[in-house]
Amino acid sequence: MVARLIDGKVVSVDIKSRVIRAVQELKAMGVEPCLATVLVGDDPASATYIESKHKDAKEVGIVTRDHRLAATFKQKELRELVQLLNNDPEVHGILVQLPLPSHIDEFDILSSLSPLKDVDGLTPYNVGMLQSGIAVLKPCTPSGIMELLDYYKIDVAGMDVVIVNRSNLVGKPLLILLLERDATVTICHSKTKDLNEKLRSADLIVTAVGNRRRFTLTANMIKEDVVVIDVGITRLNGKLTGDLDFDSVKQKASWITPVPGGVGLMTRAMLLKNTVAAAAFITREMSK
Ligand code: GUN
Repeated sequence: MVARLIDGKVVSVDIKSRVIRAVQELKAMGVEPCLATVLVGDDPASATYIESKHKDAKEVGIVTRDHRLAATFKQKELRELVQLLNNDPEVHGILVQLPLPSHIDEFDILSSLSPLKDVDGLTPYNVGMLQSGIAVLKPCTPSGIMELLDYYKIDVAGMDVVIVNRSNLVGKPLLILLLERDATVTICHSKTKDLNEKLRSADLIVTAVGNRRRFTLTANMIKEDVVVIDVGITRLNGKLTGDLDFDSVKQKASWITPVPGGVGLMTRAMLLKNTVAAAAFITREMSK
């Protein structure tokens, strides 16, 4: 079987068209949805992500603020900036780009963010809401993956799912979202025993390793008809690639996401969706 493509371009365009309509509705009410981003340091990959986020926002009519701070910026000053943005009525979404430099306590900064403006869904409050199944603002990559599965009507109920990632941004929230849909989920990581055995028995595999020297998913590691979602991004021989040996996995899987053109586009679209959701929620709360 040759896998069908799960096309992040098609699904993200669909989401963005809904975001454009929501932005227009907010503007008709006199509200200009606004996303503030905070980047500390000069990591080139993070700077590229931030630039894409601003470009995307502009495309759908979301106003942005771009805070770029030196790598030496202090924890206390960063908390103060976050407080300023929390209290600014013109800002609806705040994104603090991760990872932060090692001298900054990431949990402390995320905890200081207003949960109402937490468009990454990473504050302790929103993580708890996600656990309880009632979150409005969910982490963008996992919720983007769920949108892809829904769009292509891939029902995960009863599936054995293996996620190769245990981060707060991807693996852990995705575990919760898949559990909610009645999947049986196993999280794997660098210390997992018998990873290959687990991969071979999976009905759905989500990989987010992003290091092809350490991990490449090849056709001999999977069973026929598996659904494969690739979240990894690596530059290999000057080309952007995911965790998959795409050409071989494609011959065996039933569904597959490309890199680029898959989950990455969804992460970007979900940030826009979360920003208008935050703007709408804050506007509603303020008019009460
Ligand atoms: N770094 C890599 N991905 C993300 C993301 O989705 N949100 C934030 N804030 N930082 C990231």
